[in-house]
Amino acid sequence: MTRKIAFLPGDGVGPEVSAAARRVLDAVAETHSLSLKYNEYLFGGAAIDTAGDPLPSETKTGCLEADAVFLGAVGGPKWDGGALRPEKGLLDLRKALGVYANLRPTSIAAGMEHLSPLKIERAKDVDFLIVRELTGGMYFGDRTEGNDTARDECLYTREEVSRVARIAFEAARKRKGKVASVDKANVLATSRLWRNAVNDLHQAEFQDVEFSHVLVDAMAMKLIQAPADFDVILTENLFGDILSDEASVLSGSIGLAPSASLGDGARGLFEPIHGSAPDIAGHGKANPVGAILSAAMMLRYSLDAGEAADAIENAVAGALEQGRGTSDIGGEDTTASFTEAIMALIE
Ligand code: NAD
Ligand code: IPM
Ligand code: MN
Repeated sequence: MTRKIAFLPGDGVGPEVSAAARRVLDAVAETHSLSLKYNEYLFGGAAIDTAGDPLPSETKTGCLEADAVFLGAVGGPKWDGGALRPEKGLLDLRKALGVYANLRPTSIAAGMEHLSPLKIERAKDVDFLIVRELTGGMYFGDRTEGNDTARDECLYTREEVSRVARIAFEAARKRKGKVASVDKANVLATSRLWRNAVNDLHQAEFQDVEFSHVLVDAMAMKLIQAPADFDVILTENLFGDILSDEASVLSGSIGLAPSASLGDGARGLFEPIHGSAPDIAGHGKANPVGAILSAAMMLRYSLDAGEAADAIENAVAGALEQGRGTSDIGGEDTTASFTEAIMALIE
């Protein structure tokens, strides 16, 4: 069976880390006898420059016809302030694919605590999963934008909250059995709806899962103070965006953090959580691990190749244990040499 991957390198370091992920995918395809077919499409700023649209219809159709979509990153100063934004293409793609649940794992392996900016005792045993709602909230509400007044609407329906909460509770059952739902229910109406909907689902179907509510400002603190206390962290779109960048640094660098965005079918969107990193683009020093681990998540969640995903994750862990790495984690590797070190450990 040939698996079809829509491949969107995007902007800045996007093409650099995507190329690294593709090399690793090719290596694992070889050892695990997988047939992967990549169709590459223009996306983001690159697509604005060439086609006048961050999500050209050919790209959208190609993604909808694929078994999985892999994305590097989009955006950059070149397109900031323009009428068309690369980021809008990303939001439209997430919506078109119906990927409402964004999984962003953070863990610190035993022996790798020194990469964390936290004290060793706080970095020990960190292993949690942020489940971020991805197709609702303030990202998709009505906006008005004037010189003196602007407005961004935040809207959630009970159904939007329940379906992503279900993903979080189900994930917890396969992990440590705990969910912390994050909101700002002391101020926001959407957060009170969020809290009620998650409570109701927990009561009705998931009473075996240990469950708590945490206000988002307190969660920003607890992620630093006691990150090992958490298992699954469920939250809305904007809070999840912010908390996941914070979380990524606990393991050493945002360059290490992968993500999977899933909906009701098998087809998902897989991208590192970092952006186009314009400050380091073109220097060959971007950390490829976030992209490589996103490729592993793609194999596991969309391409029915869990063993190949394990092989990639083990190879990444092995290379880190050997002290390999790019400068963001204190290493001396380039993107290419770090990628090769990982490829060499694929079994
Ligand atoms: P960023 O994530 O691109 O960079 C933040 C910092 O992290 C920078 O110092 C950067 O050098 C570093 N960094 C990021 N990825 C790295 C990697 N792989 N290896 C080593 N260091 C890495 O965030 P930003 O600078 O706020 O945003 C830049 C652009 O990217 C903006 O246009 C933004 O809209 C866009 N963006 C896109 C995505 C996406 O495509 N999913 C995500 C976030 C930001
Ligand atoms: C991310 C990014 C995007 C988001 C931007 C580029 C639209 O920051 O994937 O985390 O906010 O979702
Ligand atoms: Mn983000």
